[in-house]
Amino acid sequence: MIGACLWLLAALTPINALTLYTPTSTVTTITITPTQAATANPPVWTGHAAYDPTVLTPPAPPSPPVTHVDVPIPADPVGAGFQLSIPQHGNFLGFSIELSVATAVLGKNAGKLEPAFLNYLVNIKNRARAGPIIRVGGNTQDSSSLSLTPFADGLAVEKIKQGPTVTSTPIINYSEDLLYLMANITSLVGTDWFLGLPFNSTSISTHDAALVAKTALSVLGPKLRALSLGNEPDLYAGHEERSSDYTLQSYLGEFTQVKTDVLSSISNQALLAGPSICCSVQGFDIGDILSAGWLISNAPSLSYVTVQRYPYNNCGVNGKVVDPQAIFQSYLSHTGPQSLTSLYLDASTAAQALGKPIVMQEMNTASCGGFPGVSDSFGAALWMADWSLQLAWANFSAALMHVGGQNVYYNVSGGEEGHGVARWWQSTVAVTIADLLTPLSPSPPPASSKTGNGWTTGSVYYSTLVVAEALGSANTSQVIDLFGSSNTSSLNPAYIIYEGGIPVRAVLFNYVSDPTGASDYTAAIHINGSTIGDHVSVRYLRSQHISEHNNITWAGQTLGPDFQGDGRLYGTVDTQQVACSNGACNVVVPAPSIALVFLTDTSLNESTPIPDAVATFRTSIIGHGSATVDPKALETSNGSKGGMLGTSGGKHNKSGAGRTRAGPVVAALAASLLLSTML
Ligand SMILES: *[C@@H]1O[C@H](CO)[C@@H](O)[C@H](O)[C@H]1NC(C)=O
Ligand SMILES: *[C@@H]1O[C@H](CO)[C@@H](O)[C@H](O)[C@H]1NC(C)=O
Ligand SMILES: *[C@@H]1O[C@H](CO)[C@@H](O)[C@H](O)[C@H]1NC(C)=O
Ligand SMILES: *[C@@H]1O[C@H](CO)[C@@H](O)[C@H](O)[C@H]1NC(C)=O
Ligand SMILES: *[C@@H]1O[C@H](CO)[C@@H](O)[C@H](O)[C@H]1NC(C)=O
Ligand SMILES: *[C@@H]1O[C@H](CO)[C@@H](O)[C@H](O)[C@H]1NC(C)=O
Ligand SMILES: *[C@@H]1O[C@H](CO)[C@@H](O)[C@H](O)[C@H]1NC(C)=O
Ligand SMILES: *[C@@H]1O[C@H](CO)[C@@H](O)[C@H](O)[C@H]1NC(C)=O
Ligand SMILES: *[C@@H]1O[C@H](CO)[C@@H](O)[C@H](O)[C@H]1NC(C)=O
Ligand SMILES: *[C@@H]1O[C@H](CO)[C@@H](O)[C@H](O)[C@H]1NC(C)=O
Ligand SMILES: *[C@@H]1O[C@H](CO)[C@@H](O)[C@H](O)[C@H]1NC(C)=O
Ligand SMILES: *[C@@H]1O[C@H](CO)[C@@H](O)[C@H](O)[C@H]1NC(C)=O
Repeated sequence: MIGACLWLLAALTPINALTLYTPTSTVTTITITPTQAATANPPVWTGHAAYDPTVLTPPAPPSPPVTHVDVPIPADPVGAGFQLSIPQHGNFLGFSIELSVATAVLGKNAGKLEPAFLNYLVNIKNRARAGPIIRVGGNTQDSSSLSLTPFADGLAVEKIKQGPTVTSTPIINYSEDLLYLMANITSLVGTDWFLGLPFNSTSISTHDAALVAKTALSVLGPKLRALSLGNEPDLYAGHEERSSDYTLQSYLGEFTQVKTDVLSSISNQALLAGPSICCSVQGFDIGDILSAGWLISNAPSLSYVTVQRYPYNNCGVNGKVVDPQAIFQSYLSHTGPQSLTSLYLDASTAAQALGKPIVMQEMNTASCGGFPGVSDSFGAALWMADWSLQLAWANFSAALMHVGGQNVYYNVSGGEEGHGVARWWQSTVAVTIADLLTPLSPSPPPASSKTGNGWTTGSVYYSTLVVAEALGSANTSQVIDLFGSSNTSSLNPAYIIYEGGIPVRAVLFNYVSDPTGASDYTAAIHINGSTIGDHVSVRYLRSQHISEHNNITWAGQTLGPDFQGDGRLYGTVDTQQVACSNGACNVVVPAPSIALVFLTDTSLNESTPIPDAVATFRTSIIGHGSATVDPKALETSNGSKGGMLGTSGGKHNKSGAGRTRAGPVVAALAASLLLSTML
């Protein structure tokens, strides 16, 4: 089917405007068949992990079902004994992009952006009325190097060599163009950045980290929120990135050495982030770091405190392969988000005491590619929204979902994570900023465009929309978790958002999967000791099953099925109004769903894109100019052997790549782009 689509694409595009380059000069056989059926004897998926169609069996609904939940909103939450978070921003839930796949997601180079990706970002920006937060880094940052000489093939990132085995983290060489690419994305959608520095004290003589710091700061300016020093240093010994005797003490010394070198190269003396540990390694967990005085001694140099976390891995450690069905249920309740967050309560308090915001710099359902059927399920979207709001409650300032390649094995560590946010299929299509600025013409929804040339939206992407609207654009939203203080349970948790001391929104979860409707519950929302208006407004995150991958809507809109997304929301916004009487508003929360309840009209306004702001980037210019389509990207395969689809040298039409370089800083770019017409 997809093969036919490729020809269709070629037929629809002026032939001289589309370069199809195949190493063998033939169009490869396309065998992707994303069927959704779960059968007793399912076919084995041999395509990219990101599109594995595995659908799991939902857990049975509780019996008898919960059909009524009392939601008493405290008028004075602190007085009623709740912990009220610090003020939060609507862009709380953002993205972390593995350095090795940065160009596959962001665009080939500074002059060639990914319009679909920009659309995914605009959706957040329009709700939060603030640019999304993106971190570029990960396992591949530590052995990366910045080249001041541009690459001949026009790409901003090159994988220069593989480690000793196919599963080793690739060694990345990138050019300044990556930083200009980031700056140009900022100029369009206001993105703020975290950037990972190469961290290795043995390379101090070559000042690698210092060079990146200095160059990144000069290109990104105030849009650079932090330079992260070290990625999961608690795993360095275990991952053989340092000697086996590398300990917390070794790290403390190395951090000081590299920090000193970096700070000597930049004027901003408080721009570093760390420790970015992940895994509760004994003797090297966050408590050990705090006890060792790392935070207090480094605080003056830090802009953020960072940690990273996955609840599980799918790395097949010691041959242990996890059965996704067996762990699915652990993602389908409030318990996981609570326990994951509780690990960091002391760190959060310590950071706040020193005036340093703490950020979950890398997170997702599972490392090493996620789990088929779990990571891409509707349940994961509920869980991700829950964990994010739990982190917001715990006074984190942002949480960044990791986006890895589409080429991940389920059970091999390649430093990349699949089943991520926007799982892309065809991402070698990129257009110039000038193309993007051409006015958008109305286009058909993805289902009818049928080019099969689009992006695949991971279910957890929808969580970013829910969180952005839940926290809204006022920058004053404070979060309480009602759990334990009302009759909410781990299957139907609830958060209340306050602004200026007034409750403005409620986020109600129903983790139960029951398409019969028998497990839908009615939430009786009322404000304890205060009155509620005569109506509330409700938007739903909906799908029929907790295990669904694609048929997901947020407020009635969808990003479309696999391979057909362009980052735009399709359909009409559905905001339901519920009348209240006798001080209570009865809101139905279907099984499964999230109901975001706006308690006031103002709070609905604050979360709704301003009509003029909804401009998105057209993607119908696919194949325009010198854009190339790499047939390898259309091919099903058994994994990449650690490769980076769309970014490794040699696959692309070098003469067509059209690399341009210019070096204005972000502020100058923003001024020249007439942002008001775009956003
Ligand atoms: C919550 O309380 C209501 C009445 O206050 C009751 O009808 C309902 O069964 C309770 N739900 C749970 C899950 O306990
Ligand atoms: C409800 O209000 C009363 C009186 O102000 C207070 O004692 C009680 O703790 C409140 N309950 C909740 C759940 O906020
Ligand atoms: C970034 O965008 C600006 C504005 O369109 C453009 O002039 C510049 O060439 C782009 N940068 C690069 C390196 O292509
Ligand atoms: C750090 O440097 C040592 C010594 O040069 C080297 O063996 C190790 O591979 C380096 N680690 C990384 C992550 O680059
Ligand atoms: C990175 O690429 C540049 C330009 O091609 C090259 O000069 C440099 O040696 C490369 N760095 C490494 C570490 O290979
Ligand atoms: C978050 O910070 C606020 C303000 O300092 C504090 O009152 C609250 O207890 C903190 N929450 C948690 C979960 O530590
Ligand atoms: C992944 O796990 C499966 C099942 O145990 C095994 O057959 C396969 O060889 C593993 N793949 C790799 C690349 O190790
Ligand atoms: C909220 O904060 C963002 C920065 O994250 C800022 O751009 C925006 O103007 C602020 N909005 C309001 C209403 O203050
Ligand atoms: C998608 O879900 C809706 C309800 O949530 C349902 O009516 C529709 O049939 C589903 N479509 C597909 C293709 O499964
Ligand atoms: C919400 O915004 C609309 C315009 O977008 C305005 O007409 C309306 O008065 C606003 N309502 C409230 C309650 O702020
Ligand atoms: C994937 O692996 C299966 C089983 O090893 C094999 O039959 C199939 O040809 C492979 N597909 C590709 C595209 O390599
Ligand atoms: C690469 O693109 C150029 C310009 O579009 C074209 O002339 C050339 O034939 C292409 N090369 C290949 C191998 O497709």
